[in-house]
Amino acid sequence: MITRRNFLWTVPAGLAAATVLPPMLCGADDQSVYIPGEAGMIVRSERFFDLEAPTEFFNSWITPAPHFFVRNHMHEPASLEVSSWQLTISGEVEKPLTLTLADLQKMTPHSVTNTLECAGNGRAFAQPHVPGIQWQKGAVGTAKFSGPRLRDVLQRAGAKDSGKHVMFRGLDEVPGKVPPFIRSIPIEKALDEDTLVALQMNGAAIPKHHGFPARALVPGWIGAASCKWLTEVKLLDKEFDGNFMKPGYRMPNHPLKPGDPLNLDDSHVVTALNVKSVIATPTDGSRVKSRTLNIRGAAWAGEADVVKVEISTDEGNTWKVGQLGREHAKYAWRLWSFPWHAPKAGDYTILSRATDSQGRVQPAAPEWNPSGYLNNAIDRVRIHVEA
Ligand code: MTE
Repeated sequence: MITRRNFLWTVPAGLAAATVLPPMLCGADDQSVYIPGEAGMIVRSERFFDLEAPTEFFNSWITPAPHFFVRNHMHEPASLEVSSWQLTISGEVEKPLTLTLADLQKMTPHSVTNTLECAGNGRAFAQPHVPGIQWQKGAVGTAKFSGPRLRDVLQRAGAKDSGKHVMFRGLDEVPGKVPPFIRSIPIEKALDEDTLVALQMNGAAIPKHHGFPARALVPGWIGAASCKWLTEVKLLDKEFDGNFMKPGYRMPNHPLKPGDPLNLDDSHVVTALNVKSVIATPTDGSRVKSRTLNIRGAAWAGEADVVKVEISTDEGNTWKVGQLGREHAKYAWRLWSFPWHAPKAGDYTILSRATDSQGRVQPAAPEWNPSGYLNNAIDRVRIHVEA
């Protein structure tokens, strides 16, 4: 049984947002604090726990769970007993179902290596500033998710043709007047062979911070589509229109001028991720001792493939193509590297720009919107080369 004590985290009042976790906070006894993740994760919010990975952690194709960002809109379920947990499937179905974890574990599993990115990743760089968790570059990670296909689960309940959208509800504890975290995805994406009721992350049970015992996995889409602590799947005849679909998670249909409000009637729900690359090392503001360095990073493109990552060390006047890493999968990021010899000691800005199989290229500036969603501007780090 998972009890409130070991399922919930508390943090000393003095630990301000956007601090880096010191190792001593990662131990757990009655007095100390259980923190998800390892030393080095950046706390963006203590209230519900929002943890960002520093870019240096983007050095492995699969992100170990302790280095995987955490995004919670509300409190995690206080206690969760596998023996009483169940998943209901209802709505536009012939026979509503209730499945236990054991039922789901008996179904044919499928694995998808997916890069999960929060729609608000990069929000901190919006000009003018926008409210919300001030994610910089690390609300993203890649993991292998496994579990039955959502379409097999829907098929068991006898999905009717009238079912057009699939709604997910998690077991989050909803504080005060906060609306529950409920969202829906269109039936076409729900029936995709890679959309899962995931029971495992990187070959082990999904850690509690990432949705134990089951989460939806909607590959290539913004993280918000992949509901954690899943307890209800409901087939609807239309898109769900609660808070986290409208006004939340919407983009303007036409580019806005920075600072302009969003007109909800001229907007759409955010779905697939953009093409994007991030420089992992050297890190922004670092001083490097050698003029020869290997610039490394990661690039992803949601439902598309990354075909190229280019690097510029002269403010974008010239670009050179980097080497893509060997490991790849349909919805997963590509690691990349670029060996570079600085012509002389001094200050440099390194830029990275990815292109995908749909011909999308990272723009110089993000498409500004009032929530700072989908910022995929060309990445840049400033370094000082000493030698
Ligand atoms: N599911 C529930 N039930 N509650 C949440 O707050 N956050 C969503 C999504 N699923 C959320 C949720 C958002 S905004 C993101 S980006 C991803 O979970 C983050 O997944 P992670 O915490 O496993 O990285």
